[in-house]
Order: sequence, then structure tokens, then C-alpha cells
Amino acid sequence: MNLLEELKNRFRPALATLTDAPEAFVEMVRPSGDVRHGDYQANCAMPLGGQLKQPPRQVAEAIVQALDVNDMCHEPEIAGPGFINLRLKDEWLQEQTARLVSDERLGVEPVAEPQTVVVDFSAPNVAKPMHVGHLRSTVIGAALVRMLRFAGHKVISDNHIGDWGTQFGMIIYGWNNFRDEEVYERDPVGELARLYRLVNQLCDYHAATTEQPSVEERLNEAERLLEEAKDQDPPEDKSAAKRHKKELKKLQSRVEELTARLDSLNKQKSQIEQDEILHPLAEAHPDIVRLSREETAKLHAGDETNLALWQRFLPECLAALQKVYDQLGTEFDLSLGESHYQPMLASTVADLEEKGLAVESDGAMCVFLEGNEAPFIVRKRDGAFTYATTDLATIRYRVEELKADRILYVVDARQGEHFRLLFGTAARWGFTDLDLQHISFGTVLGPDNRPFKTRAGDTVGLESLLEEAVRRARKIVNENDDSRTDEAGQPAPEMDETTRADVARVVGIGGIKYADLHHNRESDYVFSWDKMLARTGDTATYIQYSYARSSGIFRQCEVDPQSLRDNPGKGVILSTPEERALALELLQFPEQLAAALADYRPNVLTACLFSLANTFSSFYEKCHVRREEDIDLRTSRLLLCDLTARVLATGLDLLGIRTVSQM
Ligand code: ARG
Repeated sequence: MNLLEELKNRFRPALATLTDAPEAFVEMVRPSGDVRHGDYQANCAMPLGGQLKQPPRQVAEAIVQALDVNDMCHEPEIAGPGFINLRLKDEWLQEQTARLVSDERLGVEPVAEPQTVVVDFSAPNVAKPMHVGHLRSTVIGAALVRMLRFAGHKVISDNHIGDWGTQFGMIIYGWNNFRDEEVYERDPVGELARLYRLVNQLCDYHAATTEQPSVEERLNEAERLLEEAKDQDPPEDKSAAKRHKKELKKLQSRVEELTARLDSLNKQKSQIEQDEILHPLAEAHPDIVRLSREETAKLHAGDETNLALWQRFLPECLAALQKVYDQLGTEFDLSLGESHYQPMLASTVADLEEKGLAVESDGAMCVFLEGNEAPFIVRKRDGAFTYATTDLATIRYRVEELKADRILYVVDARQGEHFRLLFGTAARWGFTDLDLQHISFGTVLGPDNRPFKTRAGDTVGLESLLEEAVRRARKIVNENDDSRTDEAGQPAPEMDETTRADVARVVGIGGIKYADLHHNRESDYVFSWDKMLARTGDTATYIQYSYARSSGIFRQCEVDPQSLRDNPGKGVILSTPEERALALELLQFPEQLAAALADYRPNVLTACLFSLANTFSSFYEKCHVRREEDIDLRTSRLLLCDLTARVLATGLDLLGIRTVSQM
């Protein structure tokens, strides 16, 4: 049972006796922030009182009069200006907790109306090695897939790999001009990555050279305007003076912006110019930008040579991606890359044109949406289709072939504009019942608060990052196990090498995933090894330990959890505040999962697990389990330990994080 939902269901008819639109007020029922005020509270009497022009306390009394919660709660209490405080009855809590014991779903009822949900995540552009930036999409996406599936939806995970983009033109150009076949034979992806990087650097250099004069010109103009504005006497009129100040500020920040841009272009340029190898190459390939683009165009037009190269490179690239997915334990139902939609692009644009949605502008085909300055370009002047065209074709495919009701795009916040235009276009294209969501996320930062880079300034490769996580975890696991002692104080390590290696994998990978998931996805976060592998605090390790501990109690007591579940004796007895608090949190798992899914926030789930682990720890400190002499109480506490272990393991599993019974 979703406890919060159940209480809302009780409030709805009660509120309906006072208002025709109870829903907004129903939503004001929530868990209480402070146990002293009860377990749940409803703050709806104040706004409703305002609406009805009646004293809130009187409204609160009317609500309580009509409210039927007698079976669950003690008499509701009205406090202060009209807060309604609810305290669940211990007997009710005991009964509900005991029910969880035999409930495989731990109280989570499958959603009433299951949907087909496509989750589009990870989606790296191949031929560049995966870097830390891909971590978030992969980890958040995989968690959402599992959470939605557990909630009862039909979920299709789809890795929309960038296997057809401009980077292939760059690689083909690089292959034709700079390849080292010997290296390719040994390390194909390494060589392709080198070629990509090289061509990219040279292209950036030429692009910077081209852009520089215009930035300089714009900067001069902005500086001139700023000086002019500064020379003006500030207006007498107050509001005009304010406007003048605002204008100055705007000009100032424009100057700063352009200065920064120019600096970065100059830096880019001089970096190459000072490089003895790169500079001559850049000089020797002045048209590299255009020529790389042409290689892409040739590939897209079906040129045999380029297509053969693409077919040769792609499997190598996919195998390299797979290595990372294996490390992470991430699986996809589908991996339909951008190339899959190539045959559908022309008809997509034709259809948009026919429906009057796409129109010609400057030789390109564009969709213009109200409220958006930027057009959504679906075919460029040179005839090339775009990222946008592919995404539109993909939507049609997912609706028509996969029967999607909802599509989630787990993609970094910088693509917000793209998705706004995409969703707007899709709606006008006729996909009005389709629920489209951009699950956006922030950046992984280094200790300097800037996007996480290696010392040399490169992006951090994901494969080596994951390896390092496991290596660091291994050290901790070794130290831990080596420091174990028996009752006589003698060293007594418990794990063999294989177990240590396995635990290190679970801790290391779990640590990385949890560190990512426990931040609000929209914020940036600073990557920190020490924090993420800490044994206490809001970390995977801490929760994994709590799991190992709660399930370990069964080993110590020599009780088999399954047979306990089959013979739960007198069930759950809540004899102390700690037991009660633990039971309540166990019962709140369903509402926490629902809250996490309501706006796709795995951090709501991590917070719930962290809190449960803490509550369990207080319980375990205060309440004897093994040494409890009252057999009914002992059984009840074992049941609570088992439920805690199950909720922790299920919760972590939904986040894609594994557990081990001994750490
Ligand atoms: N490959 C893209 C990138 O790396 C992300 C694709 C996200 N999915 C989508 N359907 N657009 O930026």
C-alpha cells in the first residue's frame, strides 16, 4: 500500500464536502517534518479557509469531522492556525508491516494504467571513447528504466547511439590522410580515437581562425557602445536612471562575454601554432573543415568507399562501448543508432512539408515554432539531414512500431533547446497524446569546480575511471578484511581473493553510480573519490554495509530468512520508538518510489534508502536482537531486520547497484 496515497484517498471525500475542487488541497497531505507533530500532516485548512472566507481552525474541524481514518490513525489533532496532525496507530502499523513480510513487492502496487515507456539514454557518439560526461545519462537512465519497470510499466530501453554523425566524416578524412594501419590492427578504437581527436583539433583551429575576426569586430563595437553609454550623464528621472544602469550592466557583460570568447579562440589558436607537429599539419590541411563535411555527405549519399569504411569501423566502436556497459552492468533492449533511421529521413521531411509544417528558408527546410526564435532545421541547404530530422523520424518509429505512450530522453541540460523544439514540432506533427520528457542533468565537475578533466586537460575516459573505482575499492576491501580479528584478537580475514575482487567491483561501481544518483540530477556535482567511497555518510558503501549488516544478523542468529518469513510467529511488535520509526519508514517505501518517479528523480530514492539505513542503525543500537529473551520480540525484530535488508537491496537494485551479503 502507498500510505500517503491512502491518506489522500481518505481526505478527498472529506474535502469534497467543503469544496468542488478538492484536488489541490488533497495534495497538501504529506509526511510530517517532525515526529512530535505526528506521522503525517495536512495543511489545507489555511488556504481552504481563505477561499471559503472561514476561520481555518473551523475549516480544519469540519475536515476532521468528515474524515474517516479511524482504522489507521488516532483522533486527528488540530494545531496552531489549523494544521491537522495525524498519528498512525501502532496496531495498524504492526499489521501493515507484517503484511510486507509475505509481499514480494514490498507494498508497491503496480500502476493502475501501465504505459509503454521508451527510455532513450546513454547514446554516446561512437568513435570517440566514452568519457565521464556519458556517465550521468547512462546511470540515471538505467535507474529510471528499472524504477519504471518495477512500478509496472512496459519499459523499452533504447541506446540511441550516434553512429552516423559528422564525426564519421572526420574519421574518414583522418583515415585517408593520417592513418597508422599497424596501430589500427593492434588497437582499432585507440587509433580511430586518435584520428578523431587530431582532425577535430585541426578543424577547431581553422574554425577559430575563421571566427576570430568577427568576434574581434563585435567586441570593438560592444566596447564602443559601452564607452558611449558611460559618457552619458545618468538621467535625473529615477526609473530612467535605473534603466540606464541596467543597460550599462548589459553592455558590460556583453563585453566580458566577447572578451572571454576571444581569449579562448586565441588560446586555441596559439596552442596549435606553438605545436611543432600540429601546426604544419594545420597549414597543410587548410580545407579540412569543408572536406571532412564532404566525407560525411558522401557517406550519407551512399558512397561505396565511405560506406565500407563505416562498416569496418562501427563494430570495433560498438565493442569498445560494450566493454564499458559490461563494467557498469548496463543493458539495453534496443540499440537503434542514428543510422537506423536513415531510410526514413526523406519521408519525414516530405511529410512535414506536406502538412505545411516545414517551410523553406534560405534554402534550408525549417520548422518555425511560436515563441522560439531559432528554427528547427530538418534539412540543411546542402541537402543534409540533421540531428533534428533523425529525432523526428525516431519519434514516429517509436510510436508506430514500438507503440510508445511516453518517451524519456536522458540527455544533458545543454540540449534543452533542441528538445523544446523537438517536442513542439512533434506535437504539431500530430503526436499530441504522446508524453515527451527531457530528463536533463548537470555536469560532472572536477575539484576545481570546472568540468572534470585529467591533469593534462583531456576529458576523463570512462573505462579507466571505472577501473580506478574498482582499484580504490579493492584497497579498502583488503584493508578492512585484513584488519578483522577473532574474539582472541587474532587476525581473522574472512574473504578469499575471488570474494575480495567481487566485493571491490560491487563497492567501486556502486560508489560511482550512487555518487551520481544522489545529487539532484539538474545540479552539477563535484567528483570526489574520498566522498564516494566513504564508509559513513550518504554513500553506496554505507547503505551496502547496512544491508550486509541487516542480513548478516541472520547468520549470527542462525536463522534462515525464508523460513522466518514462512513462520512469522506473532508478527511485528512495536515496543520502542526505534522499532516504530523503522516500521514506518519501511511502509513508506512505496510512496517514496512514487515520489521519485513523479518527476524522475532517483535522488528521492537514494535519500529514502539513506534515511532507512540511519533509522536501522538507531534501531540496532537500542534494540537487542540476538540477545533478546522474549521470543516474540526477537522474532519481530528479526522480521524488521529482514524487511530492512529487503528494502535496501530492492532500492539499490532499482538504482542499478548491487549488494553483497558480507563486506
Ligand atoms: N548522441 C547524442 C549526443 O551525444 C545524444 C543523443 C540523445 N538522444 C536523442 N534521441 N537525441 O549528444
